[in-house]
Parts: sequence; structure tokens; C-alpha cells
Amino acid sequence: MKVLVVGQGGREHALVWKLKQSPSVETVYCAPGNAGTGLDAINVDIADSDINGLVDFATKEKIDLVVVGPEAPLVAGLTDRMINAGLRVFGPSKAAAALEGSKVFSKRLMKSANVPTADFSVFDHVELAKQWVDQVDDRGWVVKANGLAAGKGVIVCKNRQETHDAIDRILKFREFGDAGKQIVIEELLVGQEASILAITDGRTIVPLEVAQDHKRAYDNDEGPNTGGMGAYCPANVVTPELMEEITKTMLIPTIHAMNQRETPFRGVLYAGVMLTEDGPKTLEYNVRFGDPETQPVLMRLKSDLAQILLAAAKGQLHKIEPLEWDTRQAVCVVMASEGYPGDYTKGLPITGLDAAAEVPDVKVFHAGTKLVGKNVVNNGGRVLGVTALGDTFADAKARAYEAADLIQWPGGWCRRDISDKAV
Ligand code: AMP
Ligand code: GLY
Repeated sequence: MKVLVVGQGGREHALVWKLKQSPSVETVYCAPGNAGTGLDAINVDIADSDINGLVDFATKEKIDLVVVGPEAPLVAGLTDRMINAGLRVFGPSKAAAALEGSKVFSKRLMKSANVPTADFSVFDHVELAKQWVDQVDDRGWVVKANGLAAGKGVIVCKNRQETHDAIDRILKFREFGDAGKQIVIEELLVGQEASILAITDGRTIVPLEVAQDHKRAYDNDEGPNTGGMGAYCPANVVTPELMEEITKTMLIPTIHAMNQRETPFRGVLYAGVMLTEDGPKTLEYNVRFGDPETQPVLMRLKSDLAQILLAAAKGQLHKIEPLEWDTRQAVCVVMASEGYPGDYTKGLPITGLDAAAEVPDVKVFHAGTKLVGKNVVNNGGRVLGVTALGDTFADAKARAYEAADLIQWPGGWCRRDISDKAV
């Protein structure tokens, strides 16, 4: 099989690496990829936003399976275009990707399907939103831009004043552009978060082992929100009983509701879940693999990923064998550029990658990297996902940091407490 992975982050490097291990896969292409995917696959210089370019390439190369990493091309309709061109794709249609592309759609669908989630209201006028906030209790709220905002369109507010400010930032000043034409204001939930990723063909649902992300920039969950500074798997805060509850109250009703609307969901349904005192509640849906969650999850997956994704794309997920998992634990430490999640300098040469690769049971997944001549340089905010397996979380963590400490570039840094919350 020839496979094309679309995207350029750590998630895509992990997908490429795992897909390449499949005996049925001859060639893996990655568009546009990064320095790491260039070692494990053939990079193709086509941006993930260039739908025509991607469809032309996949058609010309007779790609057997296209795997779409990021949300933006899914929401823009890449899957529909590929399918119209006769190609086989793992990833939801444009209509189904609205579960991530529109928070308003997603929240309304959850409500109509009785999926537990924070109570919410929708606004498109600044003054009406503020009047509503003034009428309800002075407590914490979360204000969310309706559309895609590269993971930044969510503002957690401690009180009424902060909520007013967030309304201004998103709806009045349009900090996130048109994504902020409409907002959701919802209850602030408290608890531990978990990332529930499930592969589905619209009928069969195959949950992956649960991971936990670390969204805040600094140790002890302090500092600004980021795309994710590290992750570990399995996240045992989600017990088998909780997982059953999540499947019954969130995943099944959501897949069912999408079928009823005649926009079946096929791909990865990723529920960001908050484990509150009143039980698990959905914070949001994503329509793709999580980044960096995919890195530790795929390190532990022993089954053939290409066959699973192909079965899902064909609507034959019921035919696959139960997934097999490495019994060890996996920890992924994200190394970031100085200044991230704010501005940062690109093009700084990274050293120590070869030495880090020699640490046993470690895989260094590349995210924001690029090859310039013979040098690997940083090319993004999140640069590497140093991922290790160990018999205990302490072992896996020690290995991941042993490898991370061998890697250097000016200003490169990481959180030091990834997986400390693991039970
Ligand atoms: P989202 O893009 O909706 O996943 O939100 C990003 C992050 O904001 C989540 O991972 C949570 O940490 C936080 N968040 C979102 N919604 C809520 C909420 N209702 N209560 C508390 N935190 C939230
Ligand atoms: N790690 C969070 C996300 O992929 O959205």
C-alpha cells in the first residue's frame, strides 16, 4: 500500500513512523512533513491547506490510503474532495468535521443528544453577551470562539470582569478573526482532564487507550495555555468503569446523532473530557488525533495501524481484531522554542538528536523542525516530542528526560513534570 499522511507536526511524525511498520505498507509520503518525517517517509512539498495540490498528488501517485492529521484541512473539506476523486481517506467529511470546526454546532449537538457537557449560551452581539453575564452569578465562565483558532480561541475566566474582557477580545476586537463572529459562554468545570480518542467508521467504535495532555506552558500547570507540552499513556484516572460511562454517554450518542443527521462521522473522534465531581463531562470534540497524545499512544500500540485506519476508511472496522497494547507506560516530553506560546525565533540548529536516538526505548518525534543543508533547525513553537517507554511511569519519565537532556538549541526548553499526575 502507498500511504499519504497530511500534516507537519509531532502527531504526523508518529503516524508516519507507526504506519511504516505495517507489513502491508510499501511507501509513506508526508505532505509537507518536517525533518523527522523526512527520515521515516518521503516528504512532499505540498501545504496541508493546498487541497488541489494534495488531490492531484494522491491521484497521480495512486495513493491507497490518505490519512489526514490536522483539523483545518478536514474542516475545509479535504476528505470530500479526495473521495470525489476516487481516493480512500481516513478522516471525517467537512460536514462531520463541524464537530470541531464549530463549537456552537458541537455544543448544540451534545445538548440534543443528551451528552453531558457544561451548560452554555450562544451570542453574536457584544452587549447582549455582557448583559447576560451581568444577570448571572459573578463566578467563573469560559468564553470560546465558535470557529477554529489554532487551539487558542478558548479563554478561561475567573469572574465577571474577566468574562467581559474575553467577550471584547473575541467578539468585539476579533482577536481570532471570523472564528469569533459567534461565541459560546459556558460553565467553568473543575477536575482532571483526559483525552479520549476513538477510531470509528460511523458504526463500530474502537477506543484507544486513554492519554492525558499537559496544556499549560509551565510546571505545576501554571502559565498560558499551549497546544500541549507533554502527554502520557495510559491515563488510569479513567478507570474501566469511567470509560464505559464515557462510551455510553458521549461516544455512542454522538456517533448516533451524526448518523441521524445523515452526516456520518468517520475518523478519530477525540473527546476532551473533564472528570468533575458530578461525573465526566465533554469539554469539546476534536475530529483528529491529539497532539502530543498520539505520540505516547502509538508508542504503546502493537496492532497494525495501517490495517485499522484502512478498515475504518472502508467502513469495515467491525472486522478488525481487538487492539493489542504494550503493557509498559509511555511518556512524551515536548521540547519548545524560547518564547512559545508567544513569538519565537526560527532557524536555530538543534544538536544531540543522534545521541538521544540511542537511548533505549526512546523515539524522538519531530514537530516544528526543518532540514537546512545538513542541519536540523527549529521551525515552530513545539519542536520535538521526546517519547519513552518504561515499566513504570518513573522509568519512562527518567528515560524521556535523559534523552531530552542530550538535545540542545539556543533557548530550547521543556516542562520537567510530565506524567507526575499519573496514577
Ligand atoms: P477546548 O479548545 O475547548 O479544548 O479548550 C481548551 C482547554 O480549555 C481545555 O483543554 C480545558 O483545559 C479548558 N476548558 C475548556 N472548556 C472548559 C470548561 N468548561 N471549564 C474549564 N476549562 C475548560
Ligand atoms: N493536545 C490537544 C489537542 O490535540 O487538541
